[in-house]
Amino acid sequence: MSMFEKIKIILTPKYFIKGIKNPRRAFEFLRKDLVFEPEEFIFKITGLSWQQIKDYVKEIKSNKEFNNYIWEKYNQFEKYLIKTKKALNAGGTSKEVGIILYVTMRLLRPEIVLETGVANGISSAYILLALAKNQKGKLVSIDLPYELEKEYPLDYIRNEGKTFIPHGKQPGWLIPENVKKRWELVLGRSSEKFPEVLNKLRKIDIFIHDSEHSYKNMIWEYTTVWPFLNKGGILFSHDVSWNLAFDNFSNKVKRKGVKYRAEFGGIKK
Ligand SMILES: C[S@@+](CC[C@H](N)C(=O)[O-])C[C@H]1O[C@@H](n2cnc3c(N)ncnc32)[C@H](O)[C@@H]1O
Repeated sequence: MSMFEKIKIILTPKYFIKGIKNPRRAFEFLRKDLVFEPEEFIFKITGLSWQQIKDYVKEIKSNKEFNNYIWEKYNQFEKYLIKTKKALNAGGTSKEVGIILYVTMRLLRPEIVLETGVANGISSAYILLALAKNQKGKLVSIDLPYELEKEYPLDYIRNEGKTFIPHGKQPGWLIPENVKKRWELVLGRSSEKFPEVLNKLRKIDIFIHDSEHSYKNMIWEYTTVWPFLNKGGILFSHDVSWNLAFDNFSNKVKRKGVKYRAEFGGIKK
């Protein structure tokens, strides 16, 4: 996107008000590789053909059965959380980030994908659907579950990682059964589970961070996973604007970080 196009966006009422409220984000948008369309983000991060990207975007958008199934369950649970004032939302990945994940998996056809942070399972569902379509690959997800109406010790989970799942459910409860074959769920804190998981996997094609968004945990996950990531592999991260972990890490490894709406970032190795 050209600087002229970026300025045009920033001057629209919606983004102008957002920019005034959060000047750092507006400045970042102008200065850095922040993009506003999933297709553009995927293009920047993979460098693959627009036509292929568009075809896979169409494929996921037109999959009514999948979309209706997961979003109906998710929206129902979110309404319950809002109504009962337990939370403002159900903490899932947006539809656009779901599309980014799906299309990237379809394009790159990874063998091994690792993610942290499952909760209700939106991101995992998109990834697993793509792996099922590819008939290839495996997703390993690490999650520390946080059930509604369950008592936990005070230091169990930090604020930056709190996302409820319904009482009595497992993380990823809304993932359709027919795509679960390529999934391994590891329950626990990423800082405790990473060593055994990484030593077992040895090499990873794609990593996605969406667990605890504290600076300490984000930078630790990125740094720990990086040596295991194959050349040409991608490190994705949610909530890259919460702190400077993503920016500092991309500077440290001297790779350009691309951001989708300051909500989701990617670094190609
Ligand atoms: C934002 S939610 C994940 C949302 C999910 N990616 C989706 O699209 O639906 C974060 C999840 O990470 C879990 N979590 C929090 N801290 C964690 C940690 N240190 N290690 C692993 N998981 C953690 C939370 O309990 C929650 O299930």
